[in-house]
Amino acid sequence: MSNLGGTFTFPGTGLTVHRMGFGAMQLPGKGVWGPPRDHEQALAVVREAVDSGIDHIDTADFYGPEIANQLIREALFPYPRRPVVVSKIGAKRGPDASWRPATSDDEIVAAIKRNVETLGLAKIDIVNVRLFDPSVPPAEVERMVRAVVSCVDRGLVGHVGMSNASAGQVRAAQGVAPIVCVQNHYNLIRRADDAMIDDLAAQGIPYVPFFPLGGFSPIQSGRLDELARRLDVTPMQLALAWLLARSPNVLLIPGTSSLAHLRENIAAASVEIPEEIARELNALAGKPVS
Ligand SMILES: NC(=O)c1ccc[n+]([C@@H]2O[C@H](COP(=O)([O-])OP(=O)(O)OC[C@H]3O[C@@H](n4cnc5c(N)ncnc54)[C@H](OP(=O)(O)O)[C@@H]3O)[C@@H](O)[C@H]2O)c1
Repeated sequence: MSNLGGTFTFPGTGLTVHRMGFGAMQLPGKGVWGPPRDHEQALAVVREAVDSGIDHIDTADFYGPEIANQLIREALFPYPRRPVVVSKIGAKRGPDASWRPATSDDEIVAAIKRNVETLGLAKIDIVNVRLFDPSVPPAEVERMVRAVVSCVDRGLVGHVGMSNASAGQVRAAQGVAPIVCVQNHYNLIRRADDAMIDDLAAQGIPYVPFFPLGGFSPIQSGRLDELARRLDVTPMQLALAWLLARSPNVLLIPGTSSLAHLRENIAAASVEIPEEIARELNALAGKPVS
């Protein structure tokens, strides 16, 4: 059985998770909208993830909307094995499936209450403040964090994280509350956050890359394919193994609607990358196609 990459504790929380987790964004239908193509398979993916020892699930009430949370609840309620559940606020979906900001205090509190209800949990362990854009000013970041803290005070939320945030925005948030994780766009090809990962590692704070496999356009690279063949693993497994090797504070939440992919992703946590292959992977930054 995979050791799921070992464990990491969200600082100051007592919440320890395996470094291989699960992202729920692929559970709803195409475009993260509406019911899944295969309802039973979606439930089976969530159940097998938890049965395999995954104890960190990332979600949002705007996935579906509400569909991802409902599927997690249907699969796991009453949560005899309770994973750490991380959700996020800051967005909503338009009737045309568009992604729109939802950042007022009222929208934030309402979104947290919706998460609690749709997941069937008394409390969301961690809520990430998901910023729409790097230009959100510090005062606005602080206000959004305060709105989540008001839900910590009401017992609806355990701890606060940040998402899609610059280093300066994370610092602004840290002025209001302890930030227990940062979830940003990062993978083998896209490494703008290298300095942030190291800075958070020094503070004992997990960095959780979203789109670890490239998201809506999974990473494509002839060189990655070739290196994966040499290790007898799939390119996506090598991309995940590289992330786990990147820094001990990196926690993974790859998203999948497929049992076969879930199993591959779990197995990726056991892939050892020899030094010479690691060097070649490190050189792939910014080179999506070779
Ligand atoms: N904070 C934010 O703003 C934000 C933004 C985006 C995502 N997220 C979170 O991050 C999680 C991860 O991101 P993501 O799900 O968008 O993207 P991802 O994990 O980078 O990639 C998911 C895509 O890769 C495919 N896939 C998964 N495992 C695979 C495998 N072993 N082999 C081949 N293809 C595979 C999936 O398709 P199949 O379903 O066919 O496997 C899907 O198309 C999300 O689930 C969500 O929880 C957060």
